[in-house]
Amino acid sequence: MKKVYIETMGCQMNKSDAERMYGMLEHCGYTQAIEPKDADMLIVNTCSIRKLSEDKAYSQIGVWGKWKKNKPSLKIVFAGCVAQQGGKNVFKRAPYVDLVLGTQRLYELPNLVKRIEEGERIASYDETPFEETDIKINRVKGTNAWIPIMEGCNNFCTYCIVPYTRGRERSRKPELIIAEAKKALSEGFKEITLLGQNVDSYGKDLEPYQNLSWLLRQINAIEGNFRIRFVTNYPTDITDELIDTVIESDKVCEYFHIPMQSGDDYTLKKMNRRYDLKTYKKICDHIRSRVKDVTITSDFIAGFPGETEEQFENTLKAMSELELDYSNTAAYSPREGTFAAKWKDLYIPEEVKSERLARLNEHNRECCLISNKKYIGREMEVLIENFEIRKNGNKVITGRTRNNKIVHIPYEKDITGEFINVKITNARTWYLNGEVL
Ligand code: SAH
Ligand code: SF4
Ligand code: F3S
Repeated sequence: MKKVYIETMGCQMNKSDAERMYGMLEHCGYTQAIEPKDADMLIVNTCSIRKLSEDKAYSQIGVWGKWKKNKPSLKIVFAGCVAQQGGKNVFKRAPYVDLVLGTQRLYELPNLVKRIEEGERIASYDETPFEETDIKINRVKGTNAWIPIMEGCNNFCTYCIVPYTRGRERSRKPELIIAEAKKALSEGFKEITLLGQNVDSYGKDLEPYQNLSWLLRQINAIEGNFRIRFVTNYPTDITDELIDTVIESDKVCEYFHIPMQSGDDYTLKKMNRRYDLKTYKKICDHIRSRVKDVTITSDFIAGFPGETEEQFENTLKAMSELELDYSNTAAYSPREGTFAAKWKDLYIPEEVKSERLARLNEHNRECCLISNKKYIGREMEVLIENFEIRKNGNKVITGRTRNNKIVHIPYEKDITGEFINVKITNARTWYLNGEVL
């Protein structure tokens, strides 16, 4: 059998796509290569969210292009978000690429592989999605199974490329999702994470109309001991029904990822986000008042075009005021084709952006530590994800609480996949320490 290696960049959606590609390629006679050097086909599954991630994709492919000189039979595939956006222009920058596979054409892979094996060079990036087929999924081993429930975005935040790389919002059929969840659970996975750029939009396009709360209840009803998570929520789309569902469904975890992007009202408007600080705060307060021990995490961008020092400081203030438990942070990166990228006269100098990002990160660390300290002395259920013997000989298991806090626990043996009750003994910035009860 031939071998394929996939290098995945970007978000969980891309990681999930890679598991699907491995599955489809198995049917085409390819097994998974451990090392890229051993592969007959190399796939870079790209991310386009920032310029840095796009550059990384091209530099990866540059390295592989050189390998092809000594191994002309090597097939190189450029997939993912940069591929969807770049289309056949990718060939200009990387002439050694055999196949450009846009995100919308993922399920066309088996047909295309046959054609490139016969020597064709193809760019498939039509915006009409290639219809999903029932495929095998080769999941990365572990405790958590990612299941996409919807793809795409209709929001067009002015900085963001995703609506152009993932297309318009589309929901997957519930019966497919539920079957995938059952299969993953039967394979031993202990956690299902439902994925989507805006999970709250789930079901709006389905016939009959469905929603995320309904889907969560369906999955919650599957027998067995497991957890359910969902990402990402758009702040103003979170409904009372969803909050009720989280409270009432025993398997659905107390965790919301609600990107805020900025704590400044003017900047939020310029970003085309449909809320202000007051509204976002109301949403957080409401969730916290109803869901016990809930973790709320967020995303923030530093140095959006035109952002003043004062506006940036409003973001820092919001992070503490809202008691956010953790935030992903990034310096603004102009993405060609988006609205904000055109506001060149408002760009913030690189050094100011990096300085703001550093302060954002420092502030995030402080918020995380404050959040973690809340749990010292508490008893919590942990799903074990890992076992390691450290250099000093200490044996440690690591897992997550329902509210997504990482816990390190001294323990003699590997009990990955088990749920245990732990007492939290100490809090660090990024994790908690605990002991088995
Ligand atoms: N759907 C999610 C976010 C998906 S993109 C939402 O609505 O928030 C993931 C994160 O990347 C975003 O939350 C944003 O913080 C960051 N991001 C997106 N475009 C960016 C850009 N041009 N520069 C820097 N960060 C960006
Ligand atoms: Fe991007 Fe905004 Fe859509 Fe999120 S909601 S994917 S940030 S356009
Ligand atoms: Fe990147 Fe595409 Fe995800 S741009 S963040 S891989 S949706």
